[in-house]
Amino acid sequence: MAGERPVQAVILAGGQGTRLRPLTLARAKPVVPLLNRPFLAHQLALLRGHGITDVILACSYRVDDVRAALGDAEHLGVRLRYVVETEPLGTGGGVRNAADLTAGTVFVLNGDILTDVDLSAMVAFHGSRGSRATIFLTRVPDTRPYGLVELEADGRVRRFREKPAAGEAGAADTVNAGAYLLDAALLKRIPRGRVVSIEREFFPALIADGVPCYGWCASGYWRDIGSPAAYRAAQLDLLEGRARMLLPPPGERRDGSWIGPGGTAAGGARVVAPAVVGARVELGARAQVGPGAVVGDDARIGPDARVEGAVLWERVEVGAGAVLLECVVGADVKIGALARVGAGVVLESGAVIPERTTLTR
Ligand code: GTP
Repeated sequence: MAGERPVQAVILAGGQGTRLRPLTLARAKPVVPLLNRPFLAHQLALLRGHGITDVILACSYRVDDVRAALGDAEHLGVRLRYVVETEPLGTGGGVRNAADLTAGTVFVLNGDILTDVDLSAMVAFHGSRGSRATIFLTRVPDTRPYGLVELEADGRVRRFREKPAAGEAGAADTVNAGAYLLDAALLKRIPRGRVVSIEREFFPALIADGVPCYGWCASGYWRDIGSPAAYRAAQLDLLEGRARMLLPPPGERRDGSWIGPGGTAAGGARVVAPAVVGARVELGARAQVGPGAVVGDDARIGPDARVEGAVLWERVEVGAGAVLLECVVGADVKIGALARVGAGVVLESGAVIPERTTLTR
């Protein structure tokens, strides 16, 4: 209802996450671990911090992963409901599927953006302009992979262009950040039962019909975690303080790192801050974890091994003397003794790397 603060959000969480393969072959992108918590837990923390506690997840691909990781999210202080497309219906189709559960003014978020932006300020902006659809816009150095949004002087959206061809970008440098505040009634305009893109179809139609749509430019932290490089960088941003940590990693804060319970460390083993070490991790003699490393639960890091700037999922085994630098390692990977895994390498869950192997990108 007009004038009431929004309390609802729809999160789009049904994409296949092709850019994040092979990691997303084993786990849906919305719940890949970020500082040892399912990614969406960070987004839910942001929403809860702004009073948004009724959240609907629009799922499709690997929905069971999402349910297993988040459940009803009561432990995160929100109420989570799931709507599931049997066939993926695109970003607009996913929202349409959730629309009957919404009322009033509702946030719609892509389930792969990490941001600490002030959603309450977005609500205030929406109200002050009499907007019915507000798009969070962010500035990025390279606009090409994103949707460009051109504004009138008063902030009203003039044009919406999804991923324009090279050379066609024009003057706009503000891109669609994948977070919207909308009149729930508008969602019912999206046709049911077919693939619809919110970016290419829904917004252009609203603008063509003269519905008041505004762009809200905000300067908070924002990153799309949808590629392996961005997924790793987002965790460094949190560890090194470029992004506000709304949900700290599990574990106890010790000397600038987070250490989970039940682990062991042999003589000379070191955790160099900032780092995150999961529960029950075994560190061999003289092993080094960090700086900038995240090690998942139940990992075993062999003697003299070094893990720096790398993200390891659960149950990874790193052999004696192996070196892992700035890479991403899926769950249950076994890395042989004296192997070297270099910057930008991404290892699929379950991979086995023989000893003395060198992997570079
Ligand atoms: P890429 O394949 O790597 O582009 O990833 P993606 O499949 O996640 O697509 P994209 O990054 O464009 O999606 C933006 C957001 O919409 C993500 O949070 C996706 O989970 C979500 N999404 C994409 N397609 C669908 C869909 O068909 N249904 C639902 N419910 N969500 C979707």
